[in-house]
Amino acid sequence: MKTIIEPFRIKTVEPIRMTTEEERRRFIKEADYNLFSLKSEDVLIDLLTDSGTGAMSTNQWAALMRGDESYAGSPSYYRFEAAVKDLMPFKHVIPTHQGRAAEQILTSVIADGHGKGKIVPNNTHFDTTRANFEDAGIDARDLVIAEGLDTALEYPFKGNMDLEKLEQLLAVEADNIPMVEITITNNAGGGQPVSMANIRGAKAICDKYGKPLIIDSARFAENAYFIKLREDGYQDTSVKEIVREIFSHADGMTMSAKKDGFSNMGGWLALNDDEWAEKARARLIMTEGFPTYGGLSGRDMECLAVGLEEIVDEDYLQYRIRSIQYINEGLDALGVPVMKPAGGHAIFIDAKKMLPHIDPLQYPGQALAVALYIQGGIRTVEIGSLMFGRQTDGSEKPASMELVRMAMPRRMYTQAQADYIIECFEELRNNTSKIPGLRITWEPSSLRHFTAKLSPIQRRRPTI
Ligand SMILES: Cc1ncc(COP(=O)(O)O)c(C=O)c1O
Repeated sequence: MKTIIEPFRIKTVEPIRMTTEEERRRFIKEADYNLFSLKSEDVLIDLLTDSGTGAMSTNQWAALMRGDESYAGSPSYYRFEAAVKDLMPFKHVIPTHQGRAAEQILTSVIADGHGKGKIVPNNTHFDTTRANFEDAGIDARDLVIAEGLDTALEYPFKGNMDLEKLEQLLAVEADNIPMVEITITNNAGGGQPVSMANIRGAKAICDKYGKPLIIDSARFAENAYFIKLREDGYQDTSVKEIVREIFSHADGMTMSAKKDGFSNMGGWLALNDDEWAEKARARLIMTEGFPTYGGLSGRDMECLAVGLEEIVDEDYLQYRIRSIQYINEGLDALGVPVMKPAGGHAIFIDAKKMLPHIDPLQYPGQALAVALYIQGGIRTVEIGSLMFGRQTDGSEKPASMELVRMAMPRRMYTQAQADYIIECFEELRNNTSKIPGLRITWEPSSLRHFTAKLSPIQRRRPTI
């Protein structure tokens, strides 16, 4: 059989409230043209994020009832710890309420009160990772390969770290680099995977300079499945074994379990180094909770333990990757400039190419995201100059790419809904020249894309 079907059936449904274009124009104006400020009830297809938005399985719901809410030493913690160690055999597993809490704790360990002057290289830092480092004064440096910045280029591992640049940076700045990080898959760079050879290569460079390699692991299973599909020598290796190999090359990980943990909430920091783990736990107790629950309830940890077994199921991963490709191919056939090849969790549209009349500092990605909402009630997110344009010195600089991300929640939407998304673009593509750019009317001091207020720029009519 050629058709890949959803390897599940639906038991509980959540109704979607239909809205009209006129209503949506009003809702987005009331939300100051920021899609984060919309009420989710006013959204038809919510592709804002794949984080914590997936559907849980019957086994996960059943596991919730097993949750033991003891403050210390809960069996739910030990089941969670065993499930993590089965895939990622790190010595210390420190639960947190979500990924950014793990990042914050790790940042406090490496900054050690003196972040300024330190540098952390990464293929591409995600926004919260960057914000945590920069808040501590650490320079968050992106070293993704050049192929990763060309949205149209078909290349199997566009998330790879530029190992030559990494080596050059370490050769000059080793004393200021407390750790090296790799993000799998590379979310901010289009959900593109990192090859095992690249992870191995980065580890060899880290070893040469005595630096730990930490993996930002939110989408580890999708990355492992891409390795199985695309990297020579892994076709006959199970995804579970590939995952184990990935983490065998690392000294620690941060995890947002809201993605490839199949959970609505959760995360962890895992480390091999005893001294770092001790400092991390001291911080954890101050900010999250006791080390056997961190920021999680017992039932969250039970749910996660089951989620980690389900996420490496290869029938699921085949469906997952195919369902993203399906939309990518549909949009590509319409001439929409999508990132190629399709990423693991999302479809990325090159807004700079789709809306060439909008200057990068009038946020073409946000303008497209707003237009998509008005057109079809689809909520997406901008990954471009609105997210990354504000510099730490207060100046503004265009981001390297102006993308719109359509992140697919896990096990959530059907193929008819995927076809609806494609149809929205079909309607929109003939009117793109009328989509206006935006200006910011208010912004907070950091992570501005979450709460900034914007307004459309009225274009002056040409005078004769
Ligand atoms: C690659 C990556 N790292 C870290 C995070 C932060 O995780 P959380 O949202 O659980 O705080 C995210 C969230 O989207 C992510 O995509």
